[in-house]
Amino acid sequence: MPDSQHPLVKVQDLIVKYGERTVLDGITTQFNASEIRVILGTSGCGKTTLLKSIIGLVKPFAGRVTLFDREMKDPDEPETVKLLSKIGVLFQNGAMLGSLTVFDNIALPLNMHTQLHPKVIEEIVHTKLAQVDMPHAAYLFPGELSGGMRKRAALARSLVMDPSLLFCDEPSAGLDPVTSAGLDELLLKIRDILSITIVVVTHELMSIEKISDKIIFLHKGKLLYDGLFDEARRIDSGPIADFFARTEPAENDTESSRLNLTVENII
Ligand SMILES: Nc1ncnc2c1ncn2[C@@H]1O[C@H](COP(=O)(O)OP(=O)(O)O)[C@@H](O)[C@H]1O
Ligand SMILES: [Mg+2]
Repeated sequence: MPDSQHPLVKVQDLIVKYGERTVLDGITTQFNASEIRVILGTSGCGKTTLLKSIIGLVKPFAGRVTLFDREMKDPDEPETVKLLSKIGVLFQNGAMLGSLTVFDNIALPLNMHTQLHPKVIEEIVHTKLAQVDMPHAAYLFPGELSGGMRKRAALARSLVMDPSLLFCDEPSAGLDPVTSAGLDELLLKIRDILSITIVVVTHELMSIEKISDKIIFLHKGKLLYDGLFDEARRIDSGPIADFFARTEPAENDTESSRLNLTVENII
């Protein structure tokens, strides 16, 4: 098991282009074991692209990504496939298959990637559902779940292979503040009970305050800040200060105005 000084993810001089356009321009950072790392920046600055390049869904133009001390090469190589099996991903629109029950959705990766006996799979699925506080939802269909429950079920599915690293792209997008706060609590609990390293893209200041150990801030494809959240909050000018000023809840903030803020930020 890597210690806390030992990076699980290393990104070095990463450049990503879509066609002629440079979207990530020389990113260097690393994420350590058992921390929650939050990726911040305004819409379109390259957050999702960074996640996708780390997990091999987007091919870098230049630079290196190292996961668990191994360089990511061709995503189809057997060695990379093995690396990726240690990673869970909760995408923003991490859709569950509507025609399958929650149980079957969560069992899917186990059925695809393991030879485990159905009884063992059943036990794992129920354990994961309990970990996301949904012990009674196994035989419901995704369409019967609330938005928050769907996210929890998708989270259970992303944890089913026991990853040591979990990526979540805007996990609370579209959720009301109370449900979103519950999801934050759940991520903290999961980090603690499973000692998992979590990398989260989020816009929501309340989430960031509650869950982040460290943040990185991307701006126009460049890494502007890499360090503690509290120190980032003390920066008083430039894009980082602007970002926090925009996402800061007003003093007389109410649940509903925060909800508006959330929705505005998603768009
Ligand atoms: N597959 C793609 N092809 C071309 N351009 C893309 C693609 N995906 C994202 N982009 C563009 O790259 C930029 C960064 O996108 P993205 O990483 O999704 O930003 P973020 O997640 O920070 O909102 C945006 O301008 C987006 O329009
Ligand atoms: Mg995105």
